This record gives sequence, C-alpha cells and structure tokens, in this order.
Amino acid sequence: MNASNEWTVICKVDDIPVLGSRRVARPRGVDVAVFRNGSDQVFAVLDRCPHKGGPLSQGIVFGTSVACPLHNWIISLEDGCAKAPDEGCVQKFACKVDAGVVHLDPHELATLAIDLLPPRAGPGASTGATGDATFNVQAPHTA
Ligand code: FES
Repeated sequence: MNASNEWTVICKVDDIPVLGSRRVARPRGVDVAVFRNGSDQVFAVLDRCPHKGGPLSQGIVFGTSVACPLHNWIISLEDGCAKAPDEGCVQKFACKVDAGVVHLDPHELATLAIDLLPPRAGPGASTGATGDATFNVQAPHTA
C-alpha cells in the first residue's frame, strides 16, 4: 500500500509474460520494470541494476528474484537488494494488483530515482531497444 492511496493503472497482469517483464516509461528518469513471476506475483523496480546499470527488465525471473543479464547478479524483487556476496539495492516501487490489473503509485513514479541516468552503452542504453512493450503512465485514480 502507498501513503497517498492514489494509484495509476499500468496494464493487466496478463499483459506481462509469465517469468517476464514490461517497462513503464516515465516523463523523467529511467523506466520502471514490472515483473511477473511463476506465481503471478507482480513486482516493480527501477530498470537499472545496482551493479553497473544493466537492464533488469531483460533478466531471467525465478522465484521472487531476477538475474541481471549483464553479470548475473541476483536481485530480490521483494526488497530490491542484491543477494550476498553482492551488495547494493535498486529502487523499488509500490505495486498493487486489483482484479487482474497492475497499478503503480503516481507520486513514486514522478519522484523516485529520477536523477539516475541509464547506462551509456550496452543493452540498457536506450529505452525500447529490444522491442519489449513499454507502457506509458496514465492518469492516476484514487483506490
Ligand atoms: S550490471 Fe547487473 S550484474 Fe552487472
């Protein structure tokens, strides 16, 4: 749950492939990666690995974690933190699923981690480079 109780509709859970992800473009800042695991749990974290900025949306999802595609760090989707011995955390975003629809907090989308830049090289260098669907943020509504 989020503090403001405002939510923005992102997509249906079924729009996210099982064990896959989609990206949410923001007016400012790096995209947010929305993941669906094998139990239909949905998680949202910044699409930027805490190691060297790899695109987590292109990683391999298993359990409640994702393996970064660049150097295989394992990032927990529950708290955004790397599994030991690696260290560091990615920004996590509040996420709500209601009646099969994924919602994110519009205030978090507008304010969290907006100053981080995407990597200048590699697969995370530009948005949309891999042909994944990218959802644009829609107007918020109150739950
Ligand atoms: S950039 Fe993700 S493991 Fe190195």
